[in-house]
Amino acid sequence: MTRFVYNTASTLNGFLADDEDSLSWLFSVPGAAEAEDGMAHFLAGVGAFVMGATTYRWVLDNDERENEGSWAAAYGELPCFVVTHRALPTPAGGKVRFVSGAVDTWVADVEREAGEKDVWLVGGGDLVGQFDDVGRLDEIRVSLAPALLASGRPLLPRTIGSDRLRLTTVKQEGQFAELSYRVSRPV
Ligand SMILES: NC(=O)c1ccc[n+]([C@@H]2O[C@H](COP(=O)([O-])OP(=O)(O)OC[C@H]3O[C@@H](n4cnc5c(N)ncnc54)[C@H](OP(=O)(O)O)[C@@H]3O)[C@@H](O)[C@H]2O)c1
Repeated sequence: MTRFVYNTASTLNGFLADDEDSLSWLFSVPGAAEAEDGMAHFLAGVGAFVMGATTYRWVLDNDERENEGSWAAAYGELPCFVVTHRALPTPAGGKVRFVSGAVDTWVADVEREAGEKDVWLVGGGDLVGQFDDVGRLDEIRVSLAPALLASGRPLLPRTIGSDRLRLTTVKQEGQFAELSYRVSRPV
């Protein structure tokens, strides 16, 4: 059965990006590039991925604009669902589909694309919260960086208690602490 896995890096105090959507706190961590290599193993088990409009625009504005073809190199034809109200460009060679509105109106399409594999929830945090709101968040895998920010984009702005989270793995990857939690459905 398809599992929905939120896999991301975060500051130690729970931010995905700073207030200007910068990830400089992440890329300045020694060994950050090597830690990203671990994503290749994760991606092998992923059949589709989902991201919000801000995250998608960040990838296009940074990776793809600086290095055309980087999307195709990273994801090939792995289906990506971008959640947005807007008309946005698509990267060369990418298989990107735009969806909008309540998660439960399009989540079956994501699941169908993923087949027997997992769905990677890239973020942002509120979008992942929308999946949890409809009981479609199965795992949180977070790589905590040795950095803190006074404010920024939140990791997951929902109240989820220890009754719903089970710590399954703790790993050190260089300067990152990778924690995995199984998430049970809200009652
Ligand atoms: N540290 C990491 O590894 C990591 C991982 C992921 C993201 N990030 C960063 O974290 C930040 C996240 O940004 P964010 O908090 O703004 O989240 P986001 O999920 O990337 O984007 C939010 C936007 O997505 C659209 N959206 C969300 N839900 C929707 C729905 N149900 N229907 C239609 N549109 C919907 C809306 O944009 P419109 O209405 O304008 O279309 C909304 O403003 C970005 O800077 C990103 O680069 C970092």
